[in-house]
Amino acid sequence: MNTVDVKVEILAALRETLSPQLHNAPVLQCFIDDFADCKITMPAPQAPTQPGLPDAVAEYLPDLTATMSVQPLAQVFKFFFPQVSWYQIFRGNSTPAAFNQGLVAAQLVGGNGLFHTETLYLGLFLMAPNVTYPLHQHAATELYYVLSGSVDIRHGRSAKTRHLGKDDFSITVPHQVHELKTNTQPCLMAYIWTDDLTPQNWWWEQLVDGSWERLCWARTPAGDWSMLRREPLSDAEIARAGDG
Ligand SMILES: [Fe+2]
Repeated sequence: MNTVDVKVEILAALRETLSPQLHNAPVLQCFIDDFADCKITMPAPQAPTQPGLPDAVAEYLPDLTATMSVQPLAQVFKFFFPQVSWYQIFRGNSTPAAFNQGLVAAQLVGGNGLFHTETLYLGLFLMAPNVTYPLHQHAATELYYVLSGSVDIRHGRSAKTRHLGKDDFSITVPHQVHELKTNTQPCLMAYIWTDDLTPQNWWWEQLVDGSWERLCWARTPAGDWSMLRREPLSDAEIARAGDG
């Protein structure tokens, strides 16, 4: 399939899947429009940075696929399952192995995607059961759309958790702090990052004395996250994160 056809197929799937929700969440239109505006090319061939299929994909993707959404967006992703490259989004010794192994992603369109664009990321995010992706913030506007399974999400340190099941979605505005948590079920989501793609992901962490710090993770050229530094969480940042 050439890049023109790929874009037409994905855009049609996005429109068909998201348009019925526009009356509830008009901001969804920005994800459709940004995808319509992005320029897609074929990437230069490159070896996968993490060869082999992550264990979480082998273990959970078959059942998640069997119970997946029938929406067009889900069907487009299903078509590309055999071609995308899955990778652990966190690696190394600074996070527990079970956490690293429980958060995996595959980019369909983006800087590291099966199809290349510079202005948006669209891909798959799989969370194993009983994993918490801690409070974090980034400059991008983010959409999560649950394709299969379920996840709890909260936007803010003391915010109420929302339970997202199949075909539910969540929008995170720039710098808004948010947390994702699975329970006994895994979750397969489609994600879109758009607007400001600054490759930094700030985790919020409470210290034993009750104060808060934030840790900066930077996206590596391979697409995963590598920890850079930590700093106190300022009042200005708390306000910008919608958490004041
Ligand atoms: Fe996020």
